[in-house]
Amino acid sequence: MGSENLKAGVIGVGWAGQQHIRAYQSLPDTSMVAIAEPNASLRDKIATEFGIEHTFSDYSEMLASGLIDVVSIGTPNFAHADPAIAALDAGIHVLVEKPLARSYAEGKRMVDAAKRNDRVLQVMFNQRYRSDVEVVKAFVDEGGVGEVYHAKSRWLRRNGIPGGEKSWFVQHELSGGGPLIDLGVHMLDMALYLLGEPEVVSVSGATYDRLGQRFVKERFGEGAKYEVEDFGTAFVRLAGGRTLALEASWATYREDGDLMNVVLYGDTGGAEMATRRYDPTHSVRFYVDAGGVPSEIVPEVPRQGRIPGHERAAALFVEHIQSGDYSNHRGEEGLLRTWILDAIYRSAREGREIPLSELERERSGS
Ligand SMILES: NC(=O)c1ccc[n+]([C@@H]2O[C@H](COP(=O)([O-])OP(=O)(O)OC[C@H]3O[C@@H](n4cnc5c(N)ncnc54)[C@H](O)[C@@H]3O)[C@@H](O)[C@H]2O)c1
Repeated sequence: MGSENLKAGVIGVGWAGQQHIRAYQSLPDTSMVAIAEPNASLRDKIATEFGIEHTFSDYSEMLASGLIDVVSIGTPNFAHADPAIAALDAGIHVLVEKPLARSYAEGKRMVDAAKRNDRVLQVMFNQRYRSDVEVVKAFVDEGGVGEVYHAKSRWLRRNGIPGGEKSWFVQHELSGGGPLIDLGVHMLDMALYLLGEPEVVSVSGATYDRLGQRFVKERFGEGAKYEVEDFGTAFVRLAGGRTLALEASWATYREDGDLMNVVLYGDTGGAEMATRRYDPTHSVRFYVDAGGVPSEIVPEVPRQGRIPGHERAAALFVEHIQSGDYSNHRGEEGLLRTWILDAIYRSAREGREIPLSELERERSGS
């Protein structure tokens, strides 16, 4: 395909969609030409603010317009699959916000559409491109910690349940889950990325909704509903006896502010990234033996923008399209994360460890 200019559209221009617009406007090989958004005042505001020529209330009209080659999907989780499949069926490459879908079954339909139409389907995992995570990744890849046998990955909030009781985030049918599918999917992605995509063998999960239940009732009255977890945790067994502990919360009694934290225990060294309020500059420590004594290295991590990663992920999306070989970019990475989350939620419901092979057998009907 070469480096021809790709014309980009964005479906859903809330907070996430706006990051995609910024990303396309910053890249040399993309032009941001159209948006589709049902909320008229938001649509007009964003079109004016970003200087976007074409606007649509209905994404189907944008997909049929012939104006765009690539599209980003920044809609709520329940509205990822339909526009993605429609775009892929129209021959348009898709960059969809995380999580890929609310469930494995839904995500599989999206991946099948990418395969059927020979198009790129990519999930926006922007957090793995934070500058501090990049530094940890480089240290791991250069052998700085040896083999990682255990990792911890977590994103914890003291008090950050998104929206009110009517918000799509807290309605299970619309979101597919709470902080595990919202924040946990980033931390699962980050850990698997840092560990070099190990095979996941089984998961044991637990979810809680005590604070969420109480908060919605205090704020919105006794009849208010809270349908997802406010805290989720999982113990993930990886091939070769390696393990991963995952945690995500929208509300927990702990230190204020968002904590994003990855810990890697390796056989010749360790690494930790811990950041509050997203600042990457002082967040990384490496632990090694140096000069015959236990030593700590504090890398000078470069600063990035407030929301690092969207531009980097969009640039890779464009690179994959321009490579002309889409075979490794069909959304399967995102589907694997959705599959693992499905298993964690099932484990939490059933109170037992779930081998991924069990779900695979069910899916293949054997
Ligand atoms: N990667 C990240 O850092 C990040 C951060 C926040 C949210 N997200 C993800 O982005 C998605 C959206 O989250 P948000 O916080 O921006 O939500 P939001 O509610 O602020 O915005 C969603 C927008 O989509 C629009 N919309 C809904 N249905 C639509 C449809 N059928 N066609 C076109 N537009 C439609 C809504 O009107 C709204 O403007 C979610 O999947 C969320 O998980 C990702």
